Amino acid sequence: MPQPLPPLPIATDLPVDTSPISLTPASGVDLDPIWRSVERETRTRENDIHLPISLAYAERLCSVYPQADPLLVRVSVLLHDTGWGRVDESRIISEGFSGDWRKAAIRFEHEKQGCIIAREVLPPLGYSEQFVDDVCDIIDGHDTRREAYSLEDALMRDADRLWRFDHAGIALAADWFGMHPAPYADRLAEEIIPELLSQAAIEIATTELARSNALLKTEVLR
Ligand SMILES: [Fe+2]
Ligand SMILES: [Fe+2]
Repeated sequence: MPQPLPPLPIATDLPVDTSPISLTPASGVDLDPIWRSVERETRTRENDIHLPISLAYAERLCSVYPQADPLLVRVSVLLHDTGWGRVDESRIISEGFSGDWRKAAIRFEHEKQGCIIAREVLPPLGYSEQFVDDVCDIIDGHDTRREAYSLEDALMRDADRLWRFDHAGIALAADWFGMHPAPYADRLAEEIIPELLSQAAIEIATTELARSNALLKTEVLR
């Protein structure tokens, strides 16, 4: 069940793990049947890198927000961008990552297709109709809707942004936007950290970005 959205930034009293995300991959095998169902859709737009890393961040966030429904957050994160696998691939970079990319038609299309995929794959795996509806509410508009509806929606959005702070995320996302790593890292600090909704995500992003800047020598390679 989705929980109401708390005041922003969403506070936590629990200690936040800010260690490199590679130290805490997504745990368990309970979602493996979903991964197998969407394997083809993970092969577009580097979803096979973006989605597992984002899931690992989602689990970290859920561990410090125990009032959130972790299964809803985790399944929503796993599926949220699978819709990229069913849109015209040639338009992903040309429209989805340039100009006013948040309002590009292709962005709305990947959200709609993601919901169609969730409705295809989840019921045969035993997920209830209500759960599937809750997942689709989060996937639909995850890039294009301004506000988060619920705590789970907010944590999914933060996990979707956090992967970019890891050096793998900087490598891929900088390339999509046609940028070098240093200016892209600057953009993360200026534009993406202010968009984060939870205190835990802000702490993780800040620490991860400092680590990535040092690793990639962005002070020198500008
Ligand atoms: Fe997306
Ligand atoms: Fe995403």
